[in-house]
Amino acid sequence: MTELQEVQITEERPLLPGQTPEMAKTHSVETPYGSVTFTVYGTPKPKRPAILTYHDVGLNYKSCFQPLFQSGDMQEIIQNFVRVHVNAPGMEEGAPVYPVGYQYPSLDQLADTIPCILQYLNFSSIIGVGVGAGAYILSRYALNHQDTVEGLVLINIDPNAKGWMDWAAHKLTGLTSSIPEMILGHLFSQEELSGNSELIQKYRNIITHAPNIENIELYWNSYNNRRDLNFERGGDITLKCPVMLVVGDQAPHEDAVVECNSKLDPTQTSFLKMADSGGQPQLTQPGKLTEAFKYFLQGMGYMASSCMTRLSRSRTASLTSAASIDGSRSRTRTLSQSSESGTLPSGTPGHTMEVSC
Ligand code: BEZ
Repeated sequence: MTELQEVQITEERPLLPGQTPEMAKTHSVETPYGSVTFTVYGTPKPKRPAILTYHDVGLNYKSCFQPLFQSGDMQEIIQNFVRVHVNAPGMEEGAPVYPVGYQYPSLDQLADTIPCILQYLNFSSIIGVGVGAGAYILSRYALNHQDTVEGLVLINIDPNAKGWMDWAAHKLTGLTSSIPEMILGHLFSQEELSGNSELIQKYRNIITHAPNIENIELYWNSYNNRRDLNFERGGDITLKCPVMLVVGDQAPHEDAVVECNSKLDPTQTSFLKMADSGGQPQLTQPGKLTEAFKYFLQGMGYMASSCMTRLSRSRTASLTSAASIDGSRSRTRTLSQSSESGTLPSGTPGHTMEVSC
């Protein structure tokens, strides 16, 4: 059985005006696939699932999720939930570099470490929030442990294994690009990378100078060797919980997320395509994503409209009623200031929102 161990305590985080300090504790558990570190913010709330996050390659929980979870409107949501932010092995701050030849876990094995975390914390259910590789890991976990997953927010998910064409392209890119460049190309669009905004400079710097770049490369290899999740609409292999799929308009994984949407149950899936958000909507548009997250939670019965801002309340009312009428809508919905922004290809499944910013 898994050996469990707590290794560190108390982490500081800057407070927003009017906020009271919240407890943050970092723990490590030994799992069959090595030690996994995670940080818990807040205290468990009776009869509520934990929000559990899993970050993408090249990042850790802070560089992936801090802007989202520390955004102003998010505070109203997260005070109602305990949060568990998992670091993929070797991605935690100060992680030692694995020795050459270390057998890094596959994404499926990383999914199998989640029960160890939940068992350690004595948590019975989660709402998962994952980006890229993290979205894949949470989906795999949900396929294997349906009863413990109440909802999933999947940003930039690519549920498909690489085909031989992808491999050929990957190999070619590898001849001319370094690992940090390839990972940046996975996280951000070429347009963003050449624009070289402050955000890009910051993340380029983080990844290029990462002291654990060897570990990052191992996580990257596991991502590239992922198996197909084999989602099948109406088939046995599908996500049964409410799912919010998120992708940036023109982001690197847009096509993969669109295809994923077509394979999931339209009555359970919302698809949020965000304009002007680049490859990492949780970094570039935390406010918009928070708003959509609120609707998602409200749909699951967790955010009473009295907890929500006046603006959110009115928007949610119209969205909820529209979404419940038809599970196979083809019109897009615009949640922000602008008006409806077009029609998706006919047959687009589920409830689709397009957020212009
Ligand atoms: C949180 O409050 O859940 C959080 C804070 C800092 C970084 C990431 C998450």
